[in-house]
Amino acid sequence: MKQTKFLVGAATAAHQVEGNNKKSDYWAMEQLPGSNFSEPSLDAADHYHRYKEDLQLLADTGANAYRFSIEWARIEPQKGVYDETEIAHYREVLLTCHQLNLTPIVTLHHFTSPKWLITEGGWEAQTTIAYFRQYAQLIAERLGDLIPYVCTINEANMGKQIRKLIEGMQAAAQQAPEAATEEKTADLQIGLNELQANDERAIFNQGLADSFEIAPDKIQTFLAPRSEAGEAIIMACHQAAREAFKAIHPETQVGITFSLYDHQALPGAEALAEAGQQADFLDYLPYLEADDFLGVQNYTRKIHALPGQAVPEEPTRMTKMGYEFYPEALGNVLQAVAKQWHKPILVTENGVATDNDAERIEFMARAIEGVAQAKAAGVPVIGYCYWSLLDNFEWQLGYAQTFGLIAVDRKTQTRYPKESLAYLHQIVEKMQNS
Ligand code: BGC
Repeated sequence: MKQTKFLVGAATAAHQVEGNNKKSDYWAMEQLPGSNFSEPSLDAADHYHRYKEDLQLLADTGANAYRFSIEWARIEPQKGVYDETEIAHYREVLLTCHQLNLTPIVTLHHFTSPKWLITEGGWEAQTTIAYFRQYAQLIAERLGDLIPYVCTINEANMGKQIRKLIEGMQAAAQQAPEAATEEKTADLQIGLNELQANDERAIFNQGLADSFEIAPDKIQTFLAPRSEAGEAIIMACHQAAREAFKAIHPETQVGITFSLYDHQALPGAEALAEAGQQADFLDYLPYLEADDFLGVQNYTRKIHALPGQAVPEEPTRMTKMGYEFYPEALGNVLQAVAKQWHKPILVTENGVATDNDAERIEFMARAIEGVAQAKAAGVPVIGYCYWSLLDNFEWQLGYAQTFGLIAVDRKTQTRYPKESLAYLHQIVEKMQNS
């Protein structure tokens, strides 16, 4: 089953596109009064029912890969109870991929978790390691024959990045309260809203306590600020899932994905950039030694400066997400990662939120140029998945962010392919010949 051709496709995540992920922690949080989600996910893009149409549109471009996630909360809605209908559903999705010559790249965990897992202590609890192993084993047993690539955990480093952001905000608030609001959640490559005001937070916390049946400060979803002990638990989950999958399907290529910045430094600030790369990626290397590939996810760069140091070129071109439009970041990340990582690298996410599709095509063209250059320089990059196939639910920011190659009218669920969808064909051509 091992692929040799360069993989080109698009990515999604279950909660962001399927709709009605009712047994998950995110569904519960979105519905609560005082929620910091701009809107709830509801039917999302109804990909759960329309995946055949969506995959056909993807395959029609000549793309050969589809990255998506299996939703743990659907497979195991109650602890130890597996839903056969949902297992059969994902089998159909996988079969459709194969029929359309789309190599499936399956993520086992993409941010959302079964609500029961959070009640049991979530991503700071040792017990989660065994639960995740069992879930991975079930997927391997029941669906693994159709899965050539597995990403165990999406952006395993995101909880650490969130913790660092919050610590930075708190430190800034102590030093200069009026400046504290200038710290932005847009400093992460994910859709987060600003922290809630205290009164809203109190209402939300009460709802959380009622809904999850534990104290709000014990609610450890995947995107909660992660402690060092929690970091070790996530790595143990990754290793357990990899072992479980490989024991049944040794030929399946197993890896993990990280949210990675192109860390750049102004003169004198090199150590800060190195510390960024260390925290985002290098800290995790000891846990990845038996992995088959690495999933790289990149959206922009981060320029490190010393305190008070002026940035010579303030970014002028921003994406809808509020961070710099800088597609060259991807090639730089690939080259940086390859200094310490010598196995295959798969770009599991890269994309831009914009209402201007010509701008999206420009982003893709410039990003893929960086991929081609990295490949020519010997970086073992084996594929590129654009984020995202569909306009979708960008977490706390809701549906306003438009990353998709296909627009969706959410009232009728009609699909409107953008020009950028067809552009995948040019990426296939370019990378097959590079
Ligand atoms: C995540 C996606 C998200 C995307 C765009 C990544 O952080 O894996 O779920 O939608 O970036 O922000």
